[in-house]
Amino acid sequence: MTDPLEARSGVAAVDRYLAEDYRTVPGMSSRFAAAITCGLMRIQSRLGVTGDVAEIGAFEGRFLIALAHALAPGERALGIDRFDWPTPAVLDRFEENCRRHAIAPERRITWKADTAGMRPQDVTARLGGGLVRLFHIDGEHTRAALTHDLELATPVMCDGGILVLDDMLHPGYPTLVLAVHEYLQRYPEMTVLCIIDRESVVAASKFVLCGREWFERYEAVLLEDYKANIWPMGANFEPHWCLVLSLDTALPDFS
Ligand SMILES: C[S@@+](CC[C@H](N)C(=O)[O-])C[C@H]1O[C@@H](n2cnc3c(N)ncnc32)[C@H](O)[C@@H]1O
Repeated sequence: MTDPLEARSGVAAVDRYLAEDYRTVPGMSSRFAAAITCGLMRIQSRLGVTGDVAEIGAFEGRFLIALAHALAPGERALGIDRFDWPTPAVLDRFEENCRRHAIAPERRITWKADTAGMRPQDVTARLGGGLVRLFHIDGEHTRAALTHDLELATPVMCDGGILVLDDMLHPGYPTLVLAVHEYLQRYPEMTVLCIIDRESVVAASKFVLCGREWFERYEAVLLEDYKANIWPMGANFEPHWCLVLSLDTALPDFS
């Protein structure tokens, strides 16, 4: 059986970056979440889903570089950030990290902007009319900002598109899940595909959302490809159930 601690994306370039360089690029998302998210991109490619990837909150590029290594030929990675925190020098570090980790300039689009003033058509225009197959939302961590970013991302997604939401169930941001549940009420055609469990308090859980029509197709492959990382109890979204992918799949032993 595969060692759950060895979770891989299955994309050679991603897995090399995760093994050798991921932790050298400052950032917050876990290596485990990057492996599963890029594994989902591999699954998308297998199922014929094509498009660009985008991230709100690119910071120094840690997570976006992983996603960019999972792109198919002709697809690009859009990195959106205010690039002003902790200082404006973060923009240069983002560009340098992308260069150092072999994300060629024609494969990425850097957008220094605040999403608060953005509309979906602005995102599409940046992508030259292209749609997004995977959108990682990791910007401002308030209920209102997450609601706005979800409304920004949803119209630009392609059929089969996946939304990955960072810092769900993080003790520092307990209201973010309210924005997700409100979103799911507004978009009943969307559902939670799985939860990617945390590595630490800082590297917290991610919720992965997809269209209901795609749920079974994606779940079937996740069950097959990530057997060693499936926590047996699953997540109860009342009444919907979805997979929990974790590095620790143990249940309490009461024997
Ligand atoms: C937690 S960091 C992102 C970490 C990164 N995604 C990773 O996985 O390592 C959050 C980022 O969101 C950016 N951000 C916060 N609010 C934003 C907004 N309204 N528009 C654009 N970027 C924003 C911040 O500048 C910061 O770089």
